[in-house]
Amino acid sequence: MTQDELKKAAGWAALEYVESGTIVGVGTGSTANHFIDALASIKGRIEGTVASSVASADRLKAHGIPVLDLNSVDELSVYVDGADEITRHMHMIKGGGGALTREKIVAAVARKFVCVADETKLVDVLGAFPLPVEVIPMARSYVARELVKLGGEPVLREGFTTDNGNVILDVHGLRIMEPVKLEETLNMITGVVTNGIFACRAADLLLMGTKDGVKRLD
Ligand code: A5P
Repeated sequence: MTQDELKKAAGWAALEYVESGTIVGVGTGSTANHFIDALASIKGRIEGTVASSVASADRLKAHGIPVLDLNSVDELSVYVDGADEITRHMHMIKGGGGALTREKIVAAVARKFVCVADETKLVDVLGAFPLPVEVIPMARSYVARELVKLGGEPVLREGFTTDNGNVILDVHGLRIMEPVKLEETLNMITGVVTNGIFACRAADLLLMGTKDGVKRLD
């Protein structure tokens, strides 16, 4: 099976966690796109969705699935999204697609976070994937210097602007032994909007596409 086929299997498996008559949080990326396509097959059963990016909102709308403003919603039953890396503790690095801030916001509102990923995303220690940090543009150089002090090698994502009008610094060279602590430390740097460690609000379960089928880890 190809990696995309494994992503597709994981994305479709998440349908099991969609509760009828509720509002569903939807992530961003190629695995989340498979979930969106799957969601279209049961769109009459849900009240609507909240999207974590303009790209996902556009895909949902193209399927005729209602997309709501998060501020008009009290609760999301579930949030389904991919990850760039995930550990057995359900800590993740996200934001390879640059949607980390909205992803973290939508995930915060959801009762349950279902991560969907192919088996290559499972790691023992986070950090081989460069950690995305969303930064207010005027703070870019200052934040980069602070990230160097923490042992990282920040690289500006050239030619990329987030849906929020900010820039991304991709931080190389980290070996993240204490994800909760580093997530909090990075968010304390003035000018950082958020960072791609999802540990304070980790996933509740992982649906992992493998060559032997979709496995559930929690
Ligand atoms: C988007 O900003 C990311 O957080 C994605 O969820 C992550 O990059 C996973 O992407 P794929 O599903 O495309 O691998």
